[in-house]
Amino acid sequence: MKDASPQTIYLKDYTPPAYLVEKVDLTFRLAPSATRVLSKISFKPNPASQSRDFFLHGEQLKLISAKIDGKSITPEVVEGGIKADVPDAPFIWEAEVEIDPAGNTALEGLYMSGGMYSTQCEAEGFRKITFYPDRPDVLAPFSVRIESDMPVLLSNGNKGAMGDGFAEWHDPWPKPAYLFALVAGDLVNHPDTFTTMSGKEVELNIWVRKDDIGKCAFGIDALKRSMKWDEEVYGREYDLDIFNIVAVDDFNMGAMENKGLNIFNSSCVLASPATSTDATFERIEAIVAHEYFHNWTGNRITCRDWFQLCLKEGLTVFRDQQFTGDMRSHAVKRIDDAQLLRSNQFKEDAGPLAHPVRPESFVEINNFYTVTVYEKGAEIIGMLKRLVGDEGYAKALDLYFDRHDGDAATIEDWIKVFEDATGRDLSQFKLWYSQAGTPRLKIREEWNDATFTLHIAQETLPTPGQPNKVPLVIPVAVGLLGANGDEVVPTQILELTQAEQSFSFSGLGSRPIPSILRDFSAPVILEREQSAEEQAFLLAHDTDPFNKWEAGQLLARDVLLAMIESGDTDDKGYIDALRRALRDESLDPAFRAKLLALPTEEALSIALAARGVVPDPDLIHEQREAFRLSIAQHALIELSNIYLIHQVHGPYAPSAEQAGKRALTNAALNFISLVDGGAAATSQFAGADNMTQEYEALCALLRIDAGQEELLSFADSWKDDRLVMDMWFRAQVACANPADAVAIARNLARHKKFDWKNPNRFRAVFGALAMNHAGFNAIDGSGYDLLADWLIKLDPVNPQTTARVSGSFQSWTRYDEDRKAKAEAALTRIKSTPNLSRDTTEMVTRLLSK
Ligand code: TRP
Ligand code: ZN
Repeated sequence: MKDASPQTIYLKDYTPPAYLVEKVDLTFRLAPSATRVLSKISFKPNPASQSRDFFLHGEQLKLISAKIDGKSITPEVVEGGIKADVPDAPFIWEAEVEIDPAGNTALEGLYMSGGMYSTQCEAEGFRKITFYPDRPDVLAPFSVRIESDMPVLLSNGNKGAMGDGFAEWHDPWPKPAYLFALVAGDLVNHPDTFTTMSGKEVELNIWVRKDDIGKCAFGIDALKRSMKWDEEVYGREYDLDIFNIVAVDDFNMGAMENKGLNIFNSSCVLASPATSTDATFERIEAIVAHEYFHNWTGNRITCRDWFQLCLKEGLTVFRDQQFTGDMRSHAVKRIDDAQLLRSNQFKEDAGPLAHPVRPESFVEINNFYTVTVYEKGAEIIGMLKRLVGDEGYAKALDLYFDRHDGDAATIEDWIKVFEDATGRDLSQFKLWYSQAGTPRLKIREEWNDATFTLHIAQETLPTPGQPNKVPLVIPVAVGLLGANGDEVVPTQILELTQAEQSFSFSGLGSRPIPSILRDFSAPVILEREQSAEEQAFLLAHDTDPFNKWEAGQLLARDVLLAMIESGDTDDKGYIDALRRALRDESLDPAFRAKLLALPTEEALSIALAARGVVPDPDLIHEQREAFRLSIAQHALIELSNIYLIHQVHGPYAPSAEQAGKRALTNAALNFISLVDGGAAATSQFAGADNMTQEYEALCALLRIDAGQEELLSFADSWKDDRLVMDMWFRAQVACANPADAVAIARNLARHKKFDWKNPNRFRAVFGALAMNHAGFNAIDGSGYDLLADWLIKLDPVNPQTTARVSGSFQSWTRYDEDRKAKAEAALTRIKSTPNLSRDTTEMVTRLLSK
């Protein structure tokens, strides 16, 4: 059981640990429902602490025996752990506990999944394995002995003695308990090697169940490219003899960076052309890189406490974004990241779950692995890099690795290395970590005496617990274009530091057209009146690819908002501008695919709410569909040409180049399907020899309420492949006509293959439902009710996943009184469920607080 009375933990209450650990020895005697864990831990008093209270975390542990310096003791059982009297000098703690991996459905601690043993310790799962100071500022070298008749026995570090029924592992690098991992199972490996920059050969493996051995090649290649990239770009070399990755089917999140033994949700590492889409390949490449990069940013330098989570996650996301940009296209990656930030993080900032990148309090830390901590955390690093320049950034990072290797560090340490390396005062910049909410920039232009002036005002709206906001340091990248499209002033960074500021450009021959916030230089919202002509001009001429794309988005958004708000169907030149861009063969196909993506219904809903309009999800859907049809009719020639010209012929490769072409042809296919009754999609599905073409055709058909035969044949072909069947479940809900989405989700949840205890399958249906904007927000409240029913059912089994998916309710206050009343009733019903977990209780309490 989790603690009965959930406590709030505060950043300001941090105190150093009373005891440090010098060495950990663990022995695991594995048995499905009665695993014995023997620990022998060398403690010593921490000179930096005044306290001599000895407390060890422990949850759901059956204590068999405990000893201090060889003498049996009976520890005092307290909330969340145990206490004992210990000498005021170094001593040895020994304990034996029993745990139940087979009964562990929460997937936290040591658990069984598909017949194998696996662990997940971040953030606070190690305390479900044995008694320990389970906090990230207690670091120690671990030695592990596993006793089991499973053929493959893995843990962190380098190999030790191995024999029949046992294996030993030694991890020489001091680490906090959250990076501990153990795997035991009937697994096979896809092996490889990597030679590091200093000439050391590292053994690499991806471990999977026999059936999945054909899906490892891409992951191992991504791993080798990540290792090379981190050496070349950050000077970081791998530091053990072996690096193992294991694929696990039941996993709460994407993947975990355990030292030398990364554990992956199988959906985030297993890939083959027949079963994975291009998007999946790209995602796997990024996640493999992300977990590998944690070896330095997270493991060698870890976090002092969980409030510092963004120290490792923001930086590691930033690094994986750079990596993907280098592997593929920087322009397209920047657009992807900005879209994710705007649709998910700006949404979080605008609702009841808003919190700073470094939160000041939490009840359950698992609820703070958020898009704010991760993605906005990465944006802060991108801004720092813009402000200090590439060289300043490189110097600061070298100093960071130098100064803090082996430390459990803080955001203060991080900021300090930038100050020391560059001489810059970053005290105001640091507010980005503590102030929640998305800054809005109001822009006013002035043209006078050959001088062009931008007046910029910043404002951040109140967020829960933070009614008053202060000005931030905001790097605004600006370039100026002449009337003929030439760049008259190349990109420069304007540093906004005050509530209102003006920036002038003099000596200009004629009034320029500004391109503002190039490359999305800061995670802010621009509020400005801009004519459709100017947007079309920037779509045609902007030299900054991000703002070129952005201009098309803004033009489309304004057309759509006018359609929704007043029924005005004038397309303001958008379709002609789009047709020109589609015909422009100098533009990268992947980039043109991005141009073809209209603002999502969610994005339109956010935009309306920001204008003080209560969004009507059904109307938004209807008008957006009408506009899509109009585009399909008026740009049919360009769309059909693109569909023909950019088809990939020859063998499939998950390369950026091929993926870009498929993204473009499939974006076109979705429009074409609106006017050809699905003919092109039907034949693409029938002739597909890879999953991208097959799946995209299926989705295009489902979006026009067709594809029922294809759904059957898809299920028949892929019934034995769990990951592909997740896609089958998801597509039906995500691509459903909103009027049918709830009923489809309800029926799929009764399907015999709906294994609701598997987080991937649960999210395939209910994560997808929440993403069907008009479907989830059905006026009769059926979407809210169905999700509430299933969250209540899942909570006792898996609190972490329940709490995460409950975030789907985060925008409930945006809608009309009817919808609000129904959402509130659903949330209240969840909240009043007896024995609701701490995780879900915290989430619904925050969601309901006004
Ligand atoms: N540290 C992991 C990452 O970002 C994420 C993570 C945190 C996680 N808690 C988890 C993964 C629980 C799985 C389960 O790479
Ligand atoms: Zn991470």
